[in-house]
Amino acid sequence: MKIKILMVCLGNICRSPLAEGILKSKLDPSKYIAASSGTSSYHIGNLPDPRSIQIAKKYGIDITNQRAAQFTISDFNTYDLIYAMDNSNHDNILKLTKDNHNKNKVKLILNELYPNDNLDVPDPYYGGEQGFEDVYQMLDKACDIIVTKLEKEH
Ligand code: 4NP
Repeated sequence: MKIKILMVCLGNICRSPLAEGILKSKLDPSKYIAASSGTSSYHIGNLPDPRSIQIAKKYGIDITNQRAAQFTISDFNTYDLIYAMDNSNHDNILKLTKDNHNKNKVKLILNELYPNDNLDVPDPYYGGEQGFEDVYQMLDKACDIIVTKLEKEH
């Protein structure tokens, strides 16, 4: 059985599509599935933001196959690990379940880099292109740690 990992932000057009693309680029597709979604319905069906597409392309990753989806309760059954991009989305995901097995799947992605600091990946939507570069760099580092852990465990 493949290990399934879900990256979650608000719109599923800026941060989590990058996280999905970066993680996928580092994992063996015969062993792992990486996907992403958003807690909101704002952008369902849309391509990632052009600025996310551009920054991914700069680093050799194509995310234009992605379309925004909304996180649903059934994702707790589908996925083994759920990484929220920020505290607000982390809390909104947790509100959807009372089951401790489900709750334990949900993590803040930057706690992989800075354990217990509970930092947010800043929402770059209303900012400029540097925000997308910054988000890319933090997600790239966090995904390196996720991959190291996964490969040790599986
Ligand atoms: P994301 O960024 O959660 O990283 O995809 C956002 C995209 C759209 C909106 C907010 C955040 N919005 O309000 O439409």
